[in-house]
Amino acid sequence: MQEGMEIIASRKTALLLGATGLVGGKLLDRLLEHGAYRTVVAPTRRPLNIRHDKLDNPVIKFEQLDRKPTMFRCQDIYIALGTTIKKAGSADAFRRVDYEYVVHAAALAQRQGANQCLVVSSAGANSESRFLYSRTKGEMEEAVSRLDFWAVHLFRPGVLLGDREELRLGEKVAAGLTRLVRQVSPDILGDYNPTEADLLARRMIEAAQTISPGVHFHGAAELLED
Ligand SMILES: NC(=O)c1ccc[n+]([C@@H]2O[C@H](COP(=O)([O-])OP(=O)(O)OC[C@H]3O[C@@H](n4cnc5c(N)ncnc54)[C@H](OP(=O)(O)O)[C@@H]3O)[C@@H](O)[C@H]2O)c1
Repeated sequence: MQEGMEIIASRKTALLLGATGLVGGKLLDRLLEHGAYRTVVAPTRRPLNIRHDKLDNPVIKFEQLDRKPTMFRCQDIYIALGTTIKKAGSADAFRRVDYEYVVHAAALAQRQGANQCLVVSSAGANSESRFLYSRTKGEMEEAVSRLDFWAVHLFRPGVLLGDREELRLGEKVAAGLTRLVRQVSPDILGDYNPTEADLLARRMIEAAQTISPGVHFHGAAELLED
């Protein structure tokens, strides 16, 4: 890297949405330690219980994302927001988080000059799926891809593995089953392999440091330890 590029890289601001979540928490830890970023802005709806010189943690209402547009000023926006229909209470409430908040935040950041958008989507994302979850993720991907970013990286993990406070039985069963299948035949799961949350965070940050314009998809088969 040329000297000039290094100076610019070390001045980057990352905006992170979802810092209280499993993947978002891993992203936060890694972004705070990463030399390319001078500032990490992580808006949340409840305050984070960490303090760090690089961290700015505004507590916000996600229903009013455009209240302070300058908060979205950054070079790279990382989005790891998401809920479940059960947790959100209805299909509409699920879509509000997994589609509306994601696309709205990405659009605000793009308007504030962000170059890159890195989003956690899901294996099976497909705007034509008859399943609400996969369809919503697919529609979100298409909407984010249409925004005028220099680079968009869409990550499609399989079942996420990592320490989670909350017990999600379905995810635990799926993770156990997929681990079992992988032992029998490592390649069979392809883009439905389970994904370690911390590895996903690492790969997202690595992607943001590459110079690769355009829209990139990162499937679960790509999100495995080398
Ligand atoms: N879990 C899996 O196995 C799996 C598999 C494939 C893809 N994914 C996708 O991966 C992404 C990250 O998953 P994760 O497991 O890291 O998620 P998570 O641990 O449940 O965290 C979700 C994040 O979204 C925020 N959020 C949820 N509802 C919100 C609302 N109404 N308003 C504002 N913020 C809200 C949460 O904030 P609070 O802490 O304030 O609630 C949290 O920061 C999601 O998009 C998910 O769909 C997950």
